[in-house]
Amino acid sequence: MATTDRTAKLSLDGQDFELPIHSPTAGPDVIDIRKLYAQAGVFTYDPGFTSTASCDSTITFIDGNKGELLHRGYPIDQLAEKSHFLEVCYLLLYGELPSAKELDDFENLVTRHTMIHEQMIYFFRGFRRDAHPMAVMTGVVGAMSAFYHDSTDVNDPHQREVASIRLLAKMPTIAAMAYKYTIGQPFVYPRNDLDYASNFLRMCFAVPAEDYQVNPILSRAMDRIFTLHADHEQNASTSTVRLASSSGANPFACIAAGIACLWGPAHGGANQACLEMLREIGTVDRIPEFIARAKDKNDPFRLMGFGHRVYKNTDPRATVLKQSADEVLELLGVEDNPLLQVAKELEHVALNDPYFIEKKLFPNVDFYSGIILEAMGFPTSMFTPIFALSRTVGWVSQWKEMIADPQMKIGRPRQLYLGETTRDYIDIENR
Ligand code: ACO
Repeated sequence: MATTDRTAKLSLDGQDFELPIHSPTAGPDVIDIRKLYAQAGVFTYDPGFTSTASCDSTITFIDGNKGELLHRGYPIDQLAEKSHFLEVCYLLLYGELPSAKELDDFENLVTRHTMIHEQMIYFFRGFRRDAHPMAVMTGVVGAMSAFYHDSTDVNDPHQREVASIRLLAKMPTIAAMAYKYTIGQPFVYPRNDLDYASNFLRMCFAVPAEDYQVNPILSRAMDRIFTLHADHEQNASTSTVRLASSSGANPFACIAAGIACLWGPAHGGANQACLEMLREIGTVDRIPEFIARAKDKNDPFRLMGFGHRVYKNTDPRATVLKQSADEVLELLGVEDNPLLQVAKELEHVALNDPYFIEKKLFPNVDFYSGIILEAMGFPTSMFTPIFALSRTVGWVSQWKEMIADPQMKIGRPRQLYLGETTRDYIDIENR
């Protein structure tokens, strides 16, 4: 961390406090308030962390105004076009693009860890058939800590490495099994001759009576969806993983916490909510009605797939996915899909509407991903599990970075207390 010569001055009750300023390699400077409470006896107040950096990191950088997303310095559009998911996983986990040999070894390692402990299958059977696959995933991933004891010691770098590979390799199997369970079909085991994305598609769509022939265009689109969701710096679910792990909890429990957080409609649940919204709108002529509702302060309705805490410009992932949506729908011969027509027109109307322009609300990654996933044959309930399996590598990379940091402390925010001050207990007969 590069500390500058500059300091910020805080004047409080006639006393001045000097606060160091750190310069990142990219992004705005950061005022270091770590010693503020000890020196000045005050806290800062920032619910939602809108102005607070919770950690330092070298993994992912976002410039929300430019609409730029970099993984280890590489722009996401280049990675989406030229790379593929497992190579991006290697980059996120280890910091550099792999050599051909390193990539080959890594892919082999991941491929050979895709099966889950056979006894874990009984866990699935304990869930109701109508359980949401995210509920099943949260439970089953948490339960991994009960099966893989040899990779739960977070102080052992080798165990951390084993846990990382297990999570990355087994998550597609768990997500696919969660899906198969809810539709009452038998589980399909992974196959080592298929790549990561093709394997996942097959585990979701093959049945014992008929194998699933993986179309390379669909497999490429699936891989791209994984790549575009791989990491996104300190978002809510990643921060959840970091906070949970800061207590020293085992990685499987922490990733289960990340999955639980991702489920919410303001985060990973937005792709499901977005597709449901497009269906509800139904036809292009109803768009003005929904735009008016989104702008109405008295209506809780928001345009799903629009707006982002960090991006105040187009989400670069949405641009890539818009193109993928066109390719996939053309391949499947459904390019006149009414949802795509509604999505495109809605985007056009919103981007030209003063409300959205003024508030810098642009389509985010969820706006087009749902259309592609639905065209591939996934039900809406699988959208967020697919996001979770893609984001696992980001959670794991950020977790590894945090645990290896000698400055790591338990995460423990303070509060602005507005409740009662000390008062005496009143016996029940006197209340
Ligand atoms: N539709 C209509 N108005 C919106 C929308 C929207 N989608 N998003 C934000 N606004 C308005 C808010 O009403 C607010 O208006 P105000 O200043 O007049 O009160 C202003 O824009 C700022 O919005 P905030 O909620 O304060 O912004 P925040 O950064 O907290 O929220 C969020 C970001 C949660 C993503 C928000 O834009 C949203 O709810 N979008 C829809 C859900 C969605 O698509 N989520 C996916 C995010 S991406 C991801 O997780 C992969």
